[in-house]
Amino acid sequence: MPQTVADDKPGTYDVVVAGGGVIGLTAAWTLANDGHRVMVIDPEPGHGAAWVAAGMLAPANEAYFGEQELVRLLVAGAHRWPSFAAALEEAAGSSIGFEPSGTVVVACDASDRAALDRLLAFRQSIGLDARRLSVSECRRAVPALSPAIGGGAEVPGDHQVDNRLLVTALMAACRGNGVEFAARKVVGVDLDGAGTARGVLTDDGTRVAARTVVAAMGWQTGELGGVPDGLLPELRPVKGHILRLAGRGALLGRTVRGLVKGRSCYLVPRRDHSVVVGATVEEMGPDLRVQSGAVHALLDDARTLVPGIDELELVECAVGLRPGTADNAPYVGWTEVPGLAVATGHYRNGILLAPITGQAIGALVNGTEIPAELRPFGVGQRTERAHGLGASGR
Ligand code: GLY
Repeated sequence: MPQTVADDKPGTYDVVVAGGGVIGLTAAWTLANDGHRVMVIDPEPGHGAAWVAAGMLAPANEAYFGEQELVRLLVAGAHRWPSFAAALEEAAGSSIGFEPSGTVVVACDASDRAALDRLLAFRQSIGLDARRLSVSECRRAVPALSPAIGGGAEVPGDHQVDNRLLVTALMAACRGNGVEFAARKVVGVDLDGAGTARGVLTDDGTRVAARTVVAAMGWQTGELGGVPDGLLPELRPVKGHILRLAGRGALLGRTVRGLVKGRSCYLVPRRDHSVVVGATVEEMGPDLRVQSGAVHALLDDARTLVPGIDELELVECAVGLRPGTADNAPYVGWTEVPGLAVATGHYRNGILLAPITGQAIGALVNGTEIPAELRPFGVGQRTERAHGLGASGR
């Protein structure tokens, strides 16, 4: 049942989305497509974790031991991407750089090779498409790879999109569909006397009335005021550094992921010949400092895999904060506060899961069925499971 306030008031939005990251924007666009009057509130929409990302759509390379239910969700999320990309490009009138070309994953030394082989066997055992490659096969697929790599695998189903073009297009598509934006920060949910959400409060003291509130503020979602204790998910910021390197010609034709002495690293080529290198995974709290050690480690690992990056210009070093949860899976669904839904905790998979999450939020508000693969990730179910699990820190 949709949990909305029954009485319509003039000036009341159908839905206010707190947070204009890739999840909030996709939800807003989906809701506006369904005819809802929507407002997105964010001081800098599009500039959260999704801005400092590489845009990999990687159900196989993000599949880890013990996370089979999450992997089913990642695969379902990936299936939605081709049609989502086409619809968004048409609505926004601009490209989002969706590249459905596979990924090559490589190992550096013998222990990386052994770790990669174990992951490969696991991924194949749960039906994911991945094929072992020799060193020469890796280098035929990606000639810029170092001859010193220790072999790898082909992962045809892991694709990519240009994350910055994506959020820019989402904002254009939202605006084109009548979504309103307010450049403020949501600090709390406004509840009526019966404890039902009737809008939000922003940092300048404004109250924005809405029949439904969708909280999509990434790792800060759990800090929303006004909600009784224990009813919002527990989240933590997981710091990630990325680098952007600019080149004059194409160094890489496809995404490369690698294990370098146990550390993971990826290089994602863009159509403009730049390369995104990422990413660190750091439990540092809400720390946005760019640190030289992390930049050094990323450059070191990236040039071990692809020595030609030495010729590129280092044009950006940036930090983002992923919304981490106890078991690396998202929270999408109604909370126990009537009228308040959450869509957060997507950790390393926010861009991959944006279309299916947007669809689920649309379904919640419309009172229809959410995609089956997201059902285990409703707030109640997730909270129960989170209490039995510790952070893996991946
Ligand atoms: N999705 C890759 C990362 O979070 O680094």
